[in-house]
Amino acid sequence: MPFPIHRLRRLRATEALRDLVRETRLDPKQFILPLFACPGEGVKREIGAMPGNYQMSVDEIVKECAEVYSLGIGGVILFGLPESKDEMASGAYDDDGIVQRAIRAIRAETPKLLVSTDLCNCEYTSHGHCGFIKDGVVDNDITLEWLAKSAVSHARAGAHMVAPSDMMDGRVAAIRKALDAAGFETTPIMAYAAKFASVFYGPFREAAESTPQFGDRRGYQMDPANGREAMREIELDIEEGADIVMVKPALPYLDLISQARARFDVPIAAYQVSGEYSMIMAAARNGWIDHDRAMIETLTSITRAGAGIILTYFAKPAARLLA
Ligand code: PBG
Repeated sequence: MPFPIHRLRRLRATEALRDLVRETRLDPKQFILPLFACPGEGVKREIGAMPGNYQMSVDEIVKECAEVYSLGIGGVILFGLPESKDEMASGAYDDDGIVQRAIRAIRAETPKLLVSTDLCNCEYTSHGHCGFIKDGVVDNDITLEWLAKSAVSHARAGAHMVAPSDMMDGRVAAIRKALDAAGFETTPIMAYAAKFASVFYGPFREAAESTPQFGDRRGYQMDPANGREAMREIELDIEEGADIVMVKPALPYLDLISQARARFDVPIAAYQVSGEYSMIMAAARNGWIDHDRAMIETLTSITRAGAGIILTYFAKPAARLLA
């Protein structure tokens, strides 16, 4: 007869007791803040659906990164808005491309801040798809060559880690091989391993100006219905050499974060994506939900599910609140 011997409310009675028995704690070191680099100088344009997030020119990104570092945040991940886009995504692997310039500038100013880069082509192609279009579809193997070149170019500019988000088959192996051949065998790969074709990327595509001009991404990103296939994607990426694997989006896929944590002994990351952020911001601005509590509850849930690393647009306000 458990009751009245056991009363679980005993340990909930005071703040001190709750603090003592809390199972999941957040640390700003586990957050990675996504940043959008754009051309120009002194540019800081707020993204409509993502208040508090901006398209920033390199000089502004450098200032932002100094602040990110001073807040004790784990690192940043860079996305680029190139001067011009073309069929070959040439801005992605140009040593003088927007992300490459941003990396060099950040590294010079804030050398200890972890700088990772998103490896994808959708921001650089004129059609907004994540690779080379052949017969109306994204050609997997040609796209691998672009990704490999971009990874080496980012590493050469000083990136600490590269994160492929394209969902081509075999990209981790191709990137690993190219990095090693160029002498970057110590540069880790954080693979967007289980990345779903999600409606929640909507605001990001405004931020990164990467909406596909025809069709959608369902021919390469995963079907939100498929959890077993997600485990296969993760397993293959680990076999190909991924150092960290990611589940994306986060909140609608907590089951998969948790399964991945139980099955694989590599660090697990989760991406709380733009739409997840926008929904909370919109509700908070309407007075319908408490911003800080929604932020902390979602970040805590993602951590409790098993993600040790969270890519989140809340990195700065969350770090301030946790300080
Ligand atoms: C690039 C990429 C996307 C996101 C991260 N990398 C967009 C997409 O796949 O369409 C989404 C991130 C977000 O929504 O915050 N392919």
